[in-house]
Order: sequence, then C-alpha cells, then structure tokens
Amino acid sequence: GANAMWGGRFASGPDAIMEAINASIGFDKRLAAQDVAGSRAHAAMLAAQGIITDEDRDQIDAGLLTVLSEIDAGTFRFSTALEDIHMNVENRLRELIGPAAGRLHTARSRNDQVALDFRMWVRDQADAAVTGLTALIEALLGQAEAGADLPMPGFTHLQTAQPVTWGHHMMAYVEMFARDRSRFADARARMNECPLGAAALAGTGFPLDRHMTAKALGFDRPTANSLDTVADRDFALEFLAAASITGTHLSRFAEELVIWSSAQFRFVRLSDRFSTGSSIMPQKRNPDAAELVRAKVGRITGAFVGLSTVMKGLAMAYSKDMQEDKEQAFDAADSLMLALAAMEGMVRDMLPQAQNLRAAAASGFSTATDLADWLVREAGLPFRDAHHVVGALVKLAEDTHRDLPDLSLVEMQAVNPAITADVFNVLTVEASVASRTSYGGTAPANVRAQAAAWRERLAAE
Ligand code: ARG
Repeated sequence: GANAMWGGRFASGPDAIMEAINASIGFDKRLAAQDVAGSRAHAAMLAAQGIITDEDRDQIDAGLLTVLSEIDAGTFRFSTALEDIHMNVENRLRELIGPAAGRLHTARSRNDQVALDFRMWVRDQADAAVTGLTALIEALLGQAEAGADLPMPGFTHLQTAQPVTWGHHMMAYVEMFARDRSRFADARARMNECPLGAAALAGTGFPLDRHMTAKALGFDRPTANSLDTVADRDFALEFLAAASITGTHLSRFAEELVIWSSAQFRFVRLSDRFSTGSSIMPQKRNPDAAELVRAKVGRITGAFVGLSTVMKGLAMAYSKDMQEDKEQAFDAADSLMLALAAMEGMVRDMLPQAQNLRAAAASGFSTATDLADWLVREAGLPFRDAHHVVGALVKLAEDTHRDLPDLSLVEMQAVNPAITADVFNVLTVEASVASRTSYGGTAPANVRAQAAAWRERLAAE
C-alpha cells in the first residue's frame, strides 16, 4: 500500500529494489538516542511557543521515552518500509500515543532532523577521540619519562643518523597526537551549532525559538542559514579529516613498532597481551595489533575520501546522496576508537630493549656529526672542512670494520693533526645526546622538561 507518511499523493508503494536502495534504517538506527533527544527538545519548544499544547507535549515526551526504552531493550521492531530512524520512531510513537504524535513534526523536516542527529553523533565522537588521544598521550608520557636517558638511534631514510633518546622519540608522538587532539576540539567548536528549525531548507513560518532547542541540546547557538544547515556536511568531513590525520600518525607509529619488534631490530618487546602466536611456527610473536592499527587507517582515510566524493557534486540543498554520509563515518569512528585504544595498550605495556637500543645507537658512525662539530668548536675548522675530515675518518673505520671510537688518536691525527685525545669525549652516545640542548633537542633534561610541561598542561584542563 501507499506510504503512511506521504500516501496522500501516491497510489502504490515502492518496488522492493526501491525500498532496498532507499532505506537507511539498517544503519541509522544507531542515531536513535540522538533522534529521541532532538524530538523531545523540539516538542518542549513547540509547547513553550504555544504551537502545540502542554498535554500533547507531555504525551509526546512520555511516548518518546517509551520508544527509546524499547530500542535500548532490543524489543523495538525496526521496519525497512519506514525507511529510516526518524520515521520508525515517529510511527511507533503514533502507535503508542495516537494522534498527538502527528503534531511532533510541526515546523520540522527530516532534513533538519537528520542534520541534527548526525551532528550530535559526530560531536560525541569528537569528544571520544579527544578522550582516546589523551589516554594515548599519557601512556607515551610514561614511556618518555622512563626512557628520557635511554639512547637509541635516530634515523633519516631509515639509515642511522644521530643518537636520540627513547624519551625524545616518544615525545615526538606526543606532539603529533596533541595536535590531533586539538584538531578534534577545534572541529567540535565549529560544529556546535544547532540545525533544528532549518526545516526542509527555507526555515518555517511557525514562531520557533531556535535558541531554546539549541541550548537544550548543548549547542552554542542555532545555525545561521537554513539552506547551509540542511545542505552541508562539512562538520563530518572535518571530523573525518582529523581522524584521517590521526590515523596517519597512528599508522607511522604502528609501522615503527612492527619494525622494532622484529628479530632484526629487537628494539622493543610488545606484551603478550598485544601479540599473537603462529599456529605453525612456534617461535613467532606477531605484532598483529600494530599491523591492524596500521591497516584501520585505510578505512578512516577511505571514509574521508568517500564522503568528500559524495558531497562534491551536490547542488543545494538536501539530496538523498547525503544519506551515504553515515555508514562511512560510523565505520571510521569505530576504527579510530579501536585503533587509539589498541595503540594505548601497546604503548603502556611495551618494554624498550635498553641494551639493543644503546648498541644500535652507538653503531653506524652515529656520532660522526659530533666529531665534525668538535673540529669546528675546538680546532676552528669551517664546518665544510670538518665534514670532509670526518668523512675520511669514517671511511678509514669502515674499511677496517671498526666504529669511530675504535680509531686510535694517531690514526685520527694522521687525517687531521688538530685532533686531540679530548675528541673521545664526544664520541659516546651519552655525550652526544647530552650535548643536544638546543630548544626542542634530544638532551635528557629537555625531554624531562617537555614531559613535565605536558603533564601540567593535561592536569590543568
Ligand atoms: N534517511 C535520510 C538521510 O539519512 C533522512 C533525511 C531524508 N530527507 C528527505 N528529504 N528524504 O539523509
């Protein structure tokens, strides 16, 4: 038969395929709590403005609470014929309270309704991302404080560059994840305007109080333009962009954990709780959680690209294309929260392998730059000349299968007579990292100060 909501104009119901492509209830049931909260606020405002009676409002409100409790209890019967969460809720409300249910949709469209529901959902997810990132940052701070003095190789091109500390490496991720965190907070502040009252696209002639509903639902203010309100999804895109950048950071870190936990590196031991074994190879400890964190980013960035692509060709205002905003955002948010939690767990549990890190930091001529700096400082060489001298020393060491500190003073002086025994003091990894006291450098004192500053900032929030 014809549709209960718009049957007046239609002689027959939809084709089964039409119903299948059109229905969103399979996924937007996830917006039930937001939908009910929005409807309750709308009904309260309609009554306060004298648009519906207080009796109708009370019936609507009680009915909506029953609907929500049925959904929560799992006894609610969702219907594909009713398309989406909005019509499923309203239809059940009508079954429960009768004709008063029909007054709820006064001065409202599913267009502003869905914009509201989805915005509230994304807002919650932005908050959850901030919480998840805070926990991850705290775990990283723990690692940084414990390993502020622990030397490890710093890489460029994944080739040994200069010694850094474990703490410094952890703090680099603290900076990245802290920026991610502020991106979610910024996005939240921008999205926190209430769509309710934009109606289908043009606003309404009913004397609404949009400030009242905005306030009731935790928004800073109502949105300013009704067309924009129902036509745009940049709040979701911004969330997905922030999620995708966060995902990129998570994935890079995950990649490092995969490399570091390998038998070739042995820089870190991941806990049993975050490793898996092999069904055939008894020796294996696989970093599956890190690999999956790395992989989840495909979904997250995919969702950003997917929703941008859905949106980019749409003339204003609402088009049904926009129904495709939800599944991708749901999946991306779920993936992000799981990846954040897994990374936090791995970071909390992981054990840096101090001996291996230190040995690796000392190998590969990692203090060659320290030697060049010493020649500049102590022997007055121009840096370019010093670079040349050290190049010759590295070649000598490499040809004789030694490291820089293994060269004798006599051998060094043969390359440049200005070199004295003092030089050996700068060739150790400890001396190297301790010397990097420039603001933001890897010196242990810097790392401790940075970690303390972040602890303070987080505690002050
Ligand atoms: N299920 C729809 C969506 O998710 C709700 C809005 C429908 N609006 C409309 N004019 N058909 O976008």
